[in-house]
Amino acid sequence: KILILDFGSQYTQLIARSVREANVYCEIIPYSKSFEFEGNLKGIILSGSPFSVNDPNAPVINLKGMLEKVPVLGICYGAQLSTKIYGGRVEKSSKREYGRAQMEAKRSNDALLKGVSEKSQVWMSHGDSILELPAAFEVLATTESIPVAAFKYIKAPHPLYGLQFHPEVHHSTEGKNIIHNFLVTICNCSQDWTPAHFITDTVAQLKAQIGDRKVIMALSGGVDSTVAATLIHKAIGDRLYGIFVDNGVLRKGEFEQVLETYKLLGLNIKGIDAKALFYKELKDNPDPETKRKIIGRLFIEVFQEEAHKLTDIKFLGQGTIYPDVIESVSVHGPSATIKSHHNVGGLPEKMHMELVEPLRFLFKDEVRKVGRELGIPANLIDRHPFPGPGLAIRILGEVTEEKVALLQEADDIYIKALREHDLYATVWQAGTILLPVKSVGVMGDERTYEYTVALRAVTSVDGMTADWAHLPYEFLATVSNEICNNVRGINRVVYDISSKPPATIEWE
Ligand code: XMP
Repeated sequence: KILILDFGSQYTQLIARSVREANVYCEIIPYSKSFEFEGNLKGIILSGSPFSVNDPNAPVINLKGMLEKVPVLGICYGAQLSTKIYGGRVEKSSKREYGRAQMEAKRSNDALLKGVSEKSQVWMSHGDSILELPAAFEVLATTESIPVAAFKYIKAPHPLYGLQFHPEVHHSTEGKNIIHNFLVTICNCSQDWTPAHFITDTVAQLKAQIGDRKVIMALSGGVDSTVAATLIHKAIGDRLYGIFVDNGVLRKGEFEQVLETYKLLGLNIKGIDAKALFYKELKDNPDPETKRKIIGRLFIEVFQEEAHKLTDIKFLGQGTIYPDVIESVSVHGPSATIKSHHNVGGLPEKMHMELVEPLRFLFKDEVRKVGRELGIPANLIDRHPFPGPGLAIRILGEVTEEKVALLQEADDIYIKALREHDLYATVWQAGTILLPVKSVGVMGDERTYEYTVALRAVTSVDGMTADWAHLPYEFLATVSNEICNNVRGINRVVYDISSKPPATIEWE
């Protein structure tokens, strides 16, 4: 395994993704956290940082101690810090360098740069530069504006490498090759981090953790909870008791379809129709946050009621994934902030159960790969994200059963059309919003006075920022026609052309 010490760079997760893409397992920890040099630790990567190594409170590490044990690669701040520790000079350069630069390899036969073109594009993002390398450090590459783009030092028991640029960023066109060289040639990592291996290892670990005891788990129909449940099921079979709640604000036919898929996968899942309970409590509550709270609370109540019907349950299964558990170093100071997020509505800690989270160390794309390897159908693996409060936050204002039925019909037409026109996979998320306004229309010879729906589709990487998807006009025209012709109660369709920021993806 490789450890990535995080100094708070915006790119730390990208480093981890690049390492994993080379089929090598890695973990991210805050630079200040202590760790063991176990036998399977093959190397350490030091991330970038918003700090300057010359700041009085700049993060420091015991680099010499690390080099006693394993090779180290410093990236950006990591490279500058290494230089400074060995007595080199790092200073604010007259030219700050952001964006593309051309790297010129001085030692293209070195292990780190093996196979990298003599001139290649790299991505820079730094205010400080390495002006003087310590004695015994060698320059491996330069750019037009900086004397040291890459270096090595081999006098310690293990080699130290440094890169001023970011090999993990897509714009460093040969960055993957450099990372591969560090992992495979320099650290001797075996490239055995594959979905098949992960499944075998995880199932064995789950068997050891759970033994002959029972696990309860809430499923959402999404990819994370389905993959997690399938792994747990492989380990313990029907001692996994899954629960899937119909909260009345799912998509059209979703409850039945998802249960059917679970059955196909052989999972022991109980579907609970709690629609009436949710509709009753959602009545007269137009406020978005109140709706979220009601849905979250009722979900927990329904789940607990089911859990109480079972005896001897020791474990709670969850589909938590790696981005939710990484302790990242805050940009506002070297204190660790921990994000905590529960996919299925935040099940209460007072349930006194031990957690089973087989995906805690996987990124989303890895969850999908594991899901495919497990034989989970493609239409479930590739599903767009869908919010926990479901259609309730896509019906502006008060939610009623009638409005849900209306929105489900329109949404179903839109999503099916996206799939039929091969557009589904080109957008990150899509949905239909029922607006609380009626407008005048004409159908045949008759005047109508009905609701409007808005179609939303966005492109995004992580949902934090998003752009509205530029769907073809002809496609939008087809969907608009189909909705107005087939859904009685809707006579107008609009397309949302707002990005996030300033808008959000959901309307509530
Ligand atoms: P916004 O609307 O904040 O949405 O741009 C970003 C992403 O988060 C999803 N979302 C939610 N997911 N519970 C959830 O589980 C919620 O209350 C919630 N609100 C927004 C949204 O669908 C999008 O993917």
